[in-house]
Amino acid sequence: MNTSGPIGVFDSGYGGLTVLKELRKQFPNHDFIYFGDNARAPYGNRSFDVVYQFTLEAVAFLFKKGCPLVILACNTASAKALRTIQQKDLPGLAPENRVLGVIRPSAEILGEVSKSGHVGILGTNGTIGSNSYPIELQKFAPHLQVHQQACPMWVPLIENQQYLHPAGKQFIADDVKKIMHQSNQIDTILLACTHYPVLKTQIESLAGKQVNVIAQGPIVASKLFSYLGAHPEMEDRLTKNGKLSFYSSESPAVFNERASYFFESKVEALHHSF
Ligand code: DGL
Repeated sequence: MNTSGPIGVFDSGYGGLTVLKELRKQFPNHDFIYFGDNARAPYGNRSFDVVYQFTLEAVAFLFKKGCPLVILACNTASAKALRTIQQKDLPGLAPENRVLGVIRPSAEILGEVSKSGHVGILGTNGTIGSNSYPIELQKFAPHLQVHQQACPMWVPLIENQQYLHPAGKQFIADDVKKIMHQSNQIDTILLACTHYPVLKTQIESLAGKQVNVIAQGPIVASKLFSYLGAHPEMEDRLTKNGKLSFYSSESPAVFNERASYFFESKVEALHHSF
């Protein structure tokens, strides 16, 4: 059934809000439903099977809410679950609907941004361990030298607002140092986790002026614009009343307070658990 509805945006927690903020700028009239699985975040250190299962549940929930299109605004979920959902689950679940991730749009632009040909990728254990970025970059920019660094402590530090404490700052500094030590030619760092934009200023000052630190929100928004231009049948199914709804598997009171920091405006969520 080709029903109409909002764009669904999913993340393990608050990180996807940094993408939603940019999507709203690009598509101010479109309706959106955000789901953060905060009660089960972080996903970054979880196994393939668990991330896949949790992501599938979230996608099924957003489909049930009427979303014809769901964006996995989470690199870990995009790395570990997107392909299986697209190929195995979508045909049975809702063949007319679409699920898109954040890795491919980011990989598509990295080759254009780096001048030295050396790029750094910072992400969770799950994203880095999956090798998804080197694999995708091989298709879009095979000339790039890819340097990766897993930062397993960053999402817990961000979700718990500990990243400005001295111990938190030390973890962040150590990981930035590790990636910069991989090559002195790195001129571009992709924040390949949607939580990391809240650390952008911190990372920029640690990496130095010669390094361009890139967040994914604006990239995902502009690539979605191109996608919808090429797929008018999907664009026609997206409702446009400028409406925004939020769901979290955490208590709404906790979610609302922290989410407004990531989204930079007031958030009022409803609870949904599995
Ligand atoms: N925002 C998610 C990402 O982009 C965080 C994953 C996690 O929950 O660890 O990877």
